[in-house]
Amino acid sequence: MTSTWAGPSSPALEKPSERARVDGRWADLERLRASHPMMDAVIDEVKGRRIRVGDQWLCDFASCNYLGFDLHPEVMASVEGAIAKWGTHPSWSRLLGSPRPYVEIEDQLTDLLGAPDTLVLPTITLIHTSVIPVLAGQGAVLVDAQAHKTIYEGAAIARGAGATLYRVRANDPSHLEEVLRSVPAGMSRIFCFDGVNSMTGNAPDLPEYARICRDYDTLLYVDDAHGFGVIGESPSGEMPYGHRGNSIVRYFDESYDNVVLVAGFSKSYSSLAAFMALPTSLKNYLRVAAPPYLYSDPSPIASLATVLAGFKVNDAEGDQIRTSLRLKTKKVLDQIKKLGLRTLNTSGFPVIELPLGRADDIDAVGRFLFERGIYVTLAAYPLVPRSQVGFRVQMTAANDDSEVQQLNEVLSELAERFEMQRAQPPGS
Ligand SMILES: Cc1ncc(COP(=O)(O)O)c(C=O)c1O
Repeated sequence: MTSTWAGPSSPALEKPSERARVDGRWADLERLRASHPMMDAVIDEVKGRRIRVGDQWLCDFASCNYLGFDLHPEVMASVEGAIAKWGTHPSWSRLLGSPRPYVEIEDQLTDLLGAPDTLVLPTITLIHTSVIPVLAGQGAVLVDAQAHKTIYEGAAIARGAGATLYRVRANDPSHLEEVLRSVPAGMSRIFCFDGVNSMTGNAPDLPEYARICRDYDTLLYVDDAHGFGVIGESPSGEMPYGHRGNSIVRYFDESYDNVVLVAGFSKSYSSLAAFMALPTSLKNYLRVAAPPYLYSDPSPIASLATVLAGFKVNDAEGDQIRTSLRLKTKKVLDQIKKLGLRTLNTSGFPVIELPLGRADDIDAVGRFLFERGIYVTLAAYPLVPRSQVGFRVQMTAANDDSEVQQLNEVLSELAERFEMQRAQPPGS
């Protein structure tokens, strides 16, 4: 097989400073970048859900634009008029003044989620790093072992400001209960974890976690970046993802009592903005206590416009789009099952992780996929533990049938060439 990859498409990193060399991450990143065509690449062109890196066209299975709104004509067309009206960027912090579309987004979002209130800020990372410390105060901040790195960043800042950090085993509500019992009486508590998990593609047992948190007077803080837009209310055999894409709390028919939901528009809604669903009293407090509301620039007008257009498209055709997304995902999961490969995905949601049999094969697997025209998210060491090294396929409604077929063919070839982790036979 001849390689079409001519080396990293982004310029070499500068020589490391002494501090970076001691840190070790510089060397790890540069090694990954130099050996993986899908790491820190420069994308030269996009056509539908195909992308060009240098001379190579690839089917993009690394995008998180699950509903394909980034390419939807109505969503794309919403930008020009909004910019004509507002300019490209208002540049006030929200405390100084919010352009009217912010209010429209919060009203419509509150309605869609069936939440008491909502607050829009630019990104989830900004929310975690500014709001978790506010909510944790001098109390206990419990973090699920599989929570997204940005939650850990927020928890680390909280710890720096005087909170005590506890780690809770993933997918183990009884461990949450055990840890909560060990927290000194009288200390405030917040438990942070992921909704639909960005690695496994699975949802946690939210009702059980919510019950425990209520029993122990603990605030449940859930990041559903990957669930919002994809899963929603009243799931059924016919509509396993549920309806309206209104996120994990509604998917489980849970209440917002004692729950703060965080999610973003940057995945399913293809727009740079994020939000919290929360009580109005907390929203009003965060208006003066959360630095991004006070000091950060707002989301670009283009993103506010595409969120509003996204709501319209979601109302008109969202469930149809989710059905198409589910069926495409199912085709890939069926193929994985047929090939006897292990995936962490047990939910049928559109995040499909495939762990390798040998972590050291990641370079060769990355090149193989790239050369076969498949672009995925690599989960390489040290970004994940060695036992979890592999790659992740993210399906979107904008991947066409030929791309799904190409992916399935490449997975068959991959299963022959490389040692992949195998599915456990039923009953074993
Ligand atoms: C679960 C989760 N939380 C947070 C983030 C960060 O989101 P943002 O880009 O809005 O900061 C991501 C991004 O991929 C994510 O997957």
